[in-house]
Amino acid sequence: MENLLEIHGLHAGIAEREILKGIDLAVRPGQVHAIMGPNGAGKSTLGAVLAGRPDYTVTAGSVRYRGKDLLAMAPEERSWEGLFLSFQYPIEIPGVSLTNFMKAALSARRKHAGLPELSPAEFLRLLREKMAFVQMKSDFASRSVNVGFSGGEKKRNEIFQMAMLDPTLSILDETDSGLDVDALRIVADGVNRLRRPDNAAIVITHYKRLLEYIVPDVVHILKDGRIVRTGGPELVDLIEEKGFSEIDG
Ligand SMILES: Nc1ncnc2c1ncn2[C@@H]1O[C@H](COP(=O)(O)OP(=O)(O)O)[C@@H](O)[C@H]1O
Ligand SMILES: [Mg+2]
Repeated sequence: MENLLEIHGLHAGIAEREILKGIDLAVRPGQVHAIMGPNGAGKSTLGAVLAGRPDYTVTAGSVRYRGKDLLAMAPEERSWEGLFLSFQYPIEIPGVSLTNFMKAALSARRKHAGLPELSPAEFLRLLREKMAFVQMKSDFASRSVNVGFSGGEKKRNEIFQMAMLDPTLSILDETDSGLDVDALRIVADGVNRLRRPDNAAIVITHYKRLLEYIVPDVVHILKDGRIVRTGGPELVDLIEEKGFSEIDG
């Protein structure tokens, strides 16, 4: 089957500094990939470049997503095309309720796909269904996005948004510190339950903990801007055993 995402020789960085030094990565529909690596390896940068964050510059290479040139697409277009990115540090949006935020996001995505707008009743039904999916309390619907949310609530919200938007490719950049077991389970459960033959996910994580709940098909080790090793889930145990410093290409 055709790759959902195909990265070739990607070099990117900030100002004068090169952070990604030649990334090759191919993700097929139905797969979950894990990207692991030490702090400062460039994991979040890869996510940011794929999302189209303007502070990063791509200096070489190509990224094809569903057969299209991803790097030529504006950030919002990427999201309308079913690319979902959760950030290590979720943004707070004071004054915008979660309901209104999701209404706008979903309606833009549906419009782009040529689908009719959901009626208010249909939207509400979907919202309730997905809030129940992540066991989110109903009062969150009227709260400002992420404002005053605890770490675990932000995670819940992230997976809720993912469930609402039904992405084709989800990229989850996971905080490693301060995530309790409940929060890990929310993320893992969401990823596992949203898994389908026609979508895919890339989970970025520092520690193996999360991968005790999500079993990835492919594991990559990113070090100093390069993927130095690619393998199956057994790589996770190797990392645990040896640490990143011992593992090379
Ligand atoms: N916006 C930025 N400004 C300056 N340096 C950055 C920026 N983003 C990332 N870097 C640097 O690039 C390297 C990789 O960072 P990052 O992608 O966050 O790594 P990881 O997520 O693997 O810990 C680090 O040395 C970091 O300091
Ligand atoms: Mg990071």
